[in-house]
Amino acid sequence: MTHRWLVTGGLGFIGSAFVRNVLRERPAIAVTVLDAMTYAGNPANVEEVAGDPRYRFVRGDIADAAAVEEAIGDGVDAIVNFAAETHVDRSILDPEAFIRTDVMGTHVLLEAVRRRGIPRFLQVSTDEVYGHVAEGASRERDPIRPRSPYAASKAGGDLQVLAYHTTYGTPVLITRGSNTYGPYQYPEKLIPLFVTNLIDGEQVPVYGDGLQVRDWLHVDDHARGIAHVLEHGVPGEVYNLGGGNSRTNLEITRRLLELTGRSYETSVRHVADREGHDRRYALDASKARALGWTPAVPFETGLAETAAWYRSREAWWRPIKSGDFRSYYQRQYAHR
Ligand code: TYD
Repeated sequence: MTHRWLVTGGLGFIGSAFVRNVLRERPAIAVTVLDAMTYAGNPANVEEVAGDPRYRFVRGDIADAAAVEEAIGDGVDAIVNFAAETHVDRSILDPEAFIRTDVMGTHVLLEAVRRRGIPRFLQVSTDEVYGHVAEGASRERDPIRPRSPYAASKAGGDLQVLAYHTTYGTPVLITRGSNTYGPYQYPEKLIPLFVTNLIDGEQVPVYGDGLQVRDWLHVDDHARGIAHVLEHGVPGEVYNLGGGNSRTNLEITRRLLELTGRSYETSVRHVADREGHDRRYALDASKARALGWTPAVPFETGLAETAAWYRSREAWWRPIKSGDFRSYYQRQYAHR
């Protein structure tokens, strides 16, 4: 018997990796993607599976109940919510879209799950909800202290999800992933922005001293972790998915300089720091590991392969960087 999963935001970076991974590795699962195709939702991200008879696409917004109904159709066995505004810097420029998608959109999905009696709902969340952690690593029961409009919107979504479980017994799960990297990431985020700038011989804008720390997770490991939690997680529970690869932004930058053959002196520009910049994130992922998930991609290999992917797939990112991205880049970086 085939099961059908509704994947919202399935044309985005992590969502599309999940869709490609599920259709490749789980023959008994069919997938419906609901995606609003805003700036980061790109049909090219699922090109290799779009012809699969188990793949169905609906264009629409998760905050639009009618679109969600259409995507659910005769019913689905699970909803996995990747649909989100995700970029901290954009949330500082323009928070409204974050509230609409990450808070209202999550609410609309939860209502659909409740009304239709859908047996599983997984909310894809982020380590950013824990806020800055000076030392140690965040565990699922730690208080959440979001500090950017983006993190606060995701935290608002998470709290609704948990409240639905408490109030209505809705069968929910939450995963909180650490910083994710790999192929098909929209070039506004650190790694793809820096790799593509360096390929073009342009400078890379390091915020402040560059000694901020992030914990990096390969997108394939993240996608597998989400599928694993969906199938084996305990309803009502949160699972951290951390890569265990803590690096400063400068360490990442130096490695990318090596991989692209550029020098620090000519390519790195230290610019004004992000407002309210979280200095460090770190996740304790022992709960997900106890459930049977382990990240498999070594960071050095994953980073080198990612740089090579961007080198060989200019046809994917050049159209993105030459379009609306130009005006975004001006708005974000010109004054720094
Ligand atoms: P980002 O990829 O935006 O992810 P997040 O803010 O969700 O962690 O940024 C990762 C780190 O890189 C973060 O500390 C901010 C920093 N950064 C820069 O120094 N310069 C940049 O141009 C960008 C986009 C990020």
